[in-house]
Amino acid sequence: MSMTAEQIRNLVVGLDEEVLLADGSRRPLVNFDNAATTPAFKPVLETVCRELAMYGSIGRGFSRKSDYSTDLVESVRMKILRFVGAEPDEYTCFFANNATDGLNKLASALITDPDDVVLTTRMEHHSNDLPWRERCRVLYAETDKSGRIDYDEIEKLLQENDVKYVTVTAASNVTGYITDIHRVAGLAHKYDAKIIVDGAQIISHRNISMLGDTPEEDLDFFVFSSHKMYAPFGSGAVVGLKSVLNNHRPAVRGGGTVWIVADDWQRYKDAPAVYEAGSPNFPGIVALGKAIDVLSEIGYDSIFNHEQLLMKKLLDGLKRFDDVILYGDAEDIRGRVGVVSFNFPGINSYFLAQTLSEKCAIATRRGAFCAHPYVWRLMDIPYDDLSGFVKCDDANTPGMVRISFGIYNTEEEVDRFLQGLSDIKEEARLRTEESPYHHNF
Ligand code: ALA
Repeated sequence: MSMTAEQIRNLVVGLDEEVLLADGSRRPLVNFDNAATTPAFKPVLETVCRELAMYGSIGRGFSRKSDYSTDLVESVRMKILRFVGAEPDEYTCFFANNATDGLNKLASALITDPDDVVLTTRMEHHSNDLPWRERCRVLYAETDKSGRIDYDEIEKLLQENDVKYVTVTAASNVTGYITDIHRVAGLAHKYDAKIIVDGAQIISHRNISMLGDTPEEDLDFFVFSSHKMYAPFGSGAVVGLKSVLNNHRPAVRGGGTVWIVADDWQRYKDAPAVYEAGSPNFPGIVALGKAIDVLSEIGYDSIFNHEQLLMKKLLDGLKRFDDVILYGDAEDIRGRVGVVSFNFPGINSYFLAQTLSEKCAIATRRGAFCAHPYVWRLMDIPYDDLSGFVKCDDANTPGMVRISFGIYNTEEEVDRFLQGLSDIKEEARLRTEESPYHHNF
């Protein structure tokens, strides 16, 4: 039986915590910024506190606590593999600090030559763009007019170039569009490339499997953060093919990665050890393991249904504002996770988000969401204008306002947002007009 909305809200830390408003009053925050980070699950926090009593050095110590902690970390590694349907003979999993760290470690290991070619898309956030462009040649598949990934363009670029890795986000943090990752895997493999999937924005929204309908559609690498799955303790994970990981070495070296170090030579271990230099983040790993349990108990079908309900209500409400600009397909929302970005002409989005926070205790995110090239495309900002935004104040840099849902958000909160927006919209317009930053958005 699925959990009730009240049961789900009771799983989350801090929802009743009141925040200070501009008029001196206090009320609980409506948190619509879950694509940036999610609050902690109570069972996650409780499990971390409980397990810390048995914390000892991991993989290095001789004590009951050390053995206990080592076993627990290894059990979470296996749990992650099961969670994404990865066969332990074929795949391993190494822990990282978050998806950004995981992607950087992966890029540092896999790219061995500046002439290596990586294919990605213009829908990525920076963490799945900069680690590659700093190291090798990167090709970008453009998005189509509505901001969706263009699969034909991916295939064309694969046909025309000797691509080694294709790396795509599983869901956009700007429009919520979901990528058909197994289709991209099929394309990558058809042209002898490997596929890497950035799972940061999908992990708490949809069930993910490394396995496609055919072996050609299986994923090779999958990277995610736990702070976006209700376990904000600084961990993340990379699931990947052992056969590839064992042929490479990441840039970060140190304790735990070697069999032996002599005066002038050393022998590194295989993955995952060689990818985990230094002492592991025990609370983060424990938190990640428990978050998997809680998300599995809630169930991805319930998450999908609830999120679609909230998205539809939000979009219907936003469409009632005649002048709203919505980014992404606002009609067919089944292929989107719960992320909605918007603007109003004549209102600087910085002042809109600030007024929502100060007057209504509503948390949104505002800006270009660490996905600049995608946001500039959606906003039709010309390439030649971008140099004008270097070192600009926040308010003077173009952007959007973003709502992103968590599983604990409610229809009442959407109503409170829509009412709040209607109450403060003209004030935000006035703040825009009175500021030196008159520009739209
Ligand atoms: N990429 C994260 C976001 O969208 C940080 O907010």
